[in-house]
Amino acid sequence: MRVVTTREELRAARAELDVVGLVPTMGYLHDGHLSLVRRAKKECGAAIATIFVNPLQFGPKEDLGSYPRDRERDLALLEETGCDVVWTPSDTDVYPPGFDTYVDVEGITDGLEGAHRPGHFRGVSTVLSVIFNVVQPTRAYFGQKDAQQVVVVKKMVGDLGMPLEVIASPTIREPDGLAMSSRNSYLDPTERERAVVLRRALDAVEKAWQDGETHGALLRSAMMQVLDAEPLAEPDYVSIAHPDTLEELDHVDPAVGALASLAVRLGKPRLLDNVVLPPR
Ligand code: PAJ
Repeated sequence: MRVVTTREELRAARAELDVVGLVPTMGYLHDGHLSLVRRAKKECGAAIATIFVNPLQFGPKEDLGSYPRDRERDLALLEETGCDVVWTPSDTDVYPPGFDTYVDVEGITDGLEGAHRPGHFRGVSTVLSVIFNVVQPTRAYFGQKDAQQVVVVKKMVGDLGMPLEVIASPTIREPDGLAMSSRNSYLDPTERERAVVLRRALDAVEKAWQDGETHGALLRSAMMQVLDAEPLAEPDYVSIAHPDTLEELDHVDPAVGALASLAVRLGKPRLLDNVVLPPR
């Protein structure tokens, strides 16, 4: 496995590979990240991962300074997983002095995470534009865990005609159902135990959907009732949205289904999770 830092080193390493699957990450890797690397390697023959905590996607009051990092462990895990090249750029490798170009996907970034984290998706789209242009992957792999991010990246790649395929991969969970996340490391033991409430809220909305409920408000309240019963959980939002446009729905078309998602503050971290309510 080669570990490179500058754009030039990355380009040289990439040039030796043919079909490449890319997995962009911010590090502090867990099985969710590694599932993407495994899939990239299997489907493309070669995998490139990036580790870069992107300052541009953090708000001024967010956790950029305290975001967990463990470079040596991350590199060991990537090596074990069969990753071919890891790009660990510095801030100036990604954003050279005088950097002045930003990518902003409009519309679908208005709601959900976009509404709660102004500028977040501008940071994500901009860093991924740099990463895609430098790496020139055949395919790029993203976790369904960050459902809005997947929709935004697909839209950007389509709108700008970027020559790569965006692949969404299932959310990997802990045995009790909590979605794996680097930010789970912020939870104390009590909070960690209670965090399963997110999965329980999603179970409740899946059941309501299977039982025939189609009203957006009632599907949202199926999630909210479960969250309200957990005093440590402070919900930011619960959402029933169109799976492609991410518009909030009053009524879910059974032929289309919906994205059920939530963001909940639990102690220090703000946790995200979602399930797709499939067409029926
Ligand atoms: P990060 O949070 O490190 O996540 C990197 C990738 O791993 C994303 O595609 C994310 O959706 C995926 N992922 C995280 N947890 C997962 C889980 N439990 N199961 C499956 N996949 C999971 O998302 C980012 O970094 C950044 O925004 C980035 C795309 C790297 C741009 O800076």
